[in-house]
Amino acid sequence: MPGEQKRIYLDYNATTPLKPEVKAAMIEDLEVYGNASSMHADGRLARARVEEARRAVGGLLGVSPDTIVFTSGGSESNNTVFQTMRNLALGEDGRIRSDVRNEIITTAIEHPCVFSSAEFLKSLGFKVVFLPVDRYGKLETGALKAALNEKTLLVSVMMANNEIGTIQDIKAIGKLVKAAGAWYHTDAVQALGKIPVDAVDLGADYLTMSAHKIYGPKGIGALYLRKGAPLLPLIHGGHQEGGFRAGTYNNAGILGFGKAALLARDSLEDYGREMRGLRNRLRDGLARNVPDIQINGHPSDVLPNTLNVSFPGAEGESILLALDLAGIEVSTGSACASGSLEPSHVLLAIGADPFLAHGSIRFSLGWQVSAADIDYVTETLPPIIARLRAMSTSVPKGPAGAG
Ligand SMILES: Cc1ncc(COP(=O)(O)O)c(C=O)c1O
Repeated sequence: MPGEQKRIYLDYNATTPLKPEVKAAMIEDLEVYGNASSMHADGRLARARVEEARRAVGGLLGVSPDTIVFTSGGSESNNTVFQTMRNLALGEDGRIRSDVRNEIITTAIEHPCVFSSAEFLKSLGFKVVFLPVDRYGKLETGALKAALNEKTLLVSVMMANNEIGTIQDIKAIGKLVKAAGAWYHTDAVQALGKIPVDAVDLGADYLTMSAHKIYGPKGIGALYLRKGAPLLPLIHGGHQEGGFRAGTYNNAGILGFGKAALLARDSLEDYGREMRGLRNRLRDGLARNVPDIQINGHPSDVLPNTLNVSFPGAEGESILLALDLAGIEVSTGSACASGSLEPSHVLLAIGADPFLAHGSIRFSLGWQVSAADIDYVTETLPPIIARLRAMSTSVPKGPAGAG
């Protein structure tokens, strides 16, 4: 449309657009109306497509398809694991038993769907430990060793953080967890499709995935379940998904996830190289053009597409709105936390000053971003930051100025 402003989307960790091939495959699949649980020809056709998608999702993790349980997304997969733990430790009187493993260990930087699930178990009587991370967002393994004991039931550590992109040493952490005899879960929603994820090599019992972070559709995800690991259904009903997750198959969603998984596997190396190049261009351009910025997250163990930056003296929501007016879409902290004035729990956990945490922006890049887009951002942002900083220093601070 003439005069329509170009939008530069830099919020791929919140969600991704469908890849054209995924969209085409889903539209075609909408014609396949059979219920994948039906025994007749239309049902069998639908089921065959579901199983093909399962092979593709398993292929992205290097595991056999029968270890993949489709769910409605990352939140459901994570909740299913935590609710399984609840049910394992639940006594006949409805209370958490004290004679079985009933302790949960997780980290201070998990996504809200893990964090809240852990808080919920705590409210039921579980002991829950939220492990600290260092200033780059890496788990303190000393703290993990100290927390593990014979009562530990589950350890849940995200593979890569959605806000700052820091990647954990999931394999090494897993060895400690398994030596302590606990179940090991990793939320790999942000890692999948961005870095190699080999579920067997990582030693995870459970691994969470979501399609809409890898250019697939929203409302579909999966849980990898190592053979022998317990899983109790969150949703009871029919026998779909081996009895682990009832409900008529979401055929088009599952097919779209499968297609996105195939494309992600084939392009993983190119994606990493391209994203790293663009992210470094953004980082260097901002460092050159904006004084006094601070990069949050690990310098090398970080998702190739993610850059989290604090702009001291400028407020995050104001930066976000000014960028939005200029056609650039970013996020402050996680999308789920936006609208809240609380500083990000992740930035606080890495020891950021609450003042700095308020002035932080997450840039997360994806396939549709070009070098020209990045250059537009590094030219557009400096005057915005200068203006916001000037405004904040011109406002009197403290009680005297509050009236
Ligand atoms: C690390 C992480 N885990 C879980 C989720 C939730 O996934 P879904 O949106 O599929 O429920 C997200 C989404 O932001 C995420 O970033």
